Amino acid sequence: MSAYAQELKATAQAMVATGKGVLAMDESNGTCNKRFEKLGIPATEEYRQAYRQLILTAPNLSDYISGPILYDETIRQSTTDGVPFVKFIQDAGMIPGIKVDTGAKDLAGRPNEKVTEGLDGLRERIAEYYQMGARFAKWRAVITIADGIPSRGCIEANAHGLARYAALCQEGGLVPIVEPEVLIDGDHTLERSFAVTDETLHAVFNALYSQGVAYDQMILKPSMVISGKDCPTQASVDEVAEATVTCLLKNVPATVAGIAFLSGGQSMERSSAHLNAMNAKFGNQCPWPVTFSYARAIQQPALNHWSGDSSRVSEAQQKLLTRAKCNSDASKGVYSEPAGEPALV
Ligand code: G3H
Repeated sequence: MSAYAQELKATAQAMVATGKGVLAMDESNGTCNKRFEKLGIPATEEYRQAYRQLILTAPNLSDYISGPILYDETIRQSTTDGVPFVKFIQDAGMIPGIKVDTGAKDLAGRPNEKVTEGLDGLRERIAEYYQMGARFAKWRAVITIADGIPSRGCIEANAHGLARYAALCQEGGLVPIVEPEVLIDGDHTLERSFAVTDETLHAVFNALYSQGVAYDQMILKPSMVISGKDCPTQASVDEVAEATVTCLLKNVPATVAGIAFLSGGQSMERSSAHLNAMNAKFGNQCPWPVTFSYARAIQQPALNHWSGDSSRVSEAQQKLLTRAKCNSDASKGVYSEPAGEPALV
């Protein structure tokens, strides 16, 4: 048992407290720069700091967000007033988290499949991040659906990586967010998404068990069971909610501290509507809190509006808070899209 067991359990519960979710803002510099470039924002550290400051200083963000996931560059940055971001987060009543994987790389001998790397030196990096104030971590594995894939080899390699990472986190005092993402890209059906998510979650929990990971001290960050984005027949909100909850109930032990979904390229409105339907219709069947750990589905309107212009910070923050509240409401099953927002697409 981890020396940190009680602390880990309390942190995990706080991350998924009623009405709260996790805000993913851990885009690597490469990903952040790509999003900036699309909007004409300079891809520099100065602008990345300004954007992350905009997010973290949004007034009363902690009403909806239990903790943000930071990137290595961000956890070392401060506000322009000189307050380290980690301290700012703690003082605002939130929990700092950190992405610790080093990215999804080509899996040897398996064309078009990826394996997430980052285990080398991870024990030492976890110790440094804990000392800096982080209390949870994230590792994202990606599973691609296409003709003949995913292979068993890809699923097992990623499950093994996730489990080794999670065990190291618990040893070092960080709650692991275990993120096996079945990608939405492709023309696969809801049924195929179910089958792949089912196989993936089964393999992940087998590996977590083998590595002695304590389920009550971890958060699962799954993708939803959903039609591929190019599938001609798109499942309805209720169909997605039912298939996702069914798949989770089949595979996720009841003692897992919480489920916090990724948005995975769904529209903001769908991301909120799916989470809401799961809680409104199936919440009483779920043994774990079911909430969000979204990046794009919370950040996108704020990023678009800001576009690097310092005079727009306050309005951009309001847009961020609107999505954070929508998803907080969805985690309680009481969401409805605010008037004037774009229609469900
Ligand atoms: O790893 C992925 C992010 O943490 C979640 O991002 O909500 O934009 O899919 P997303």
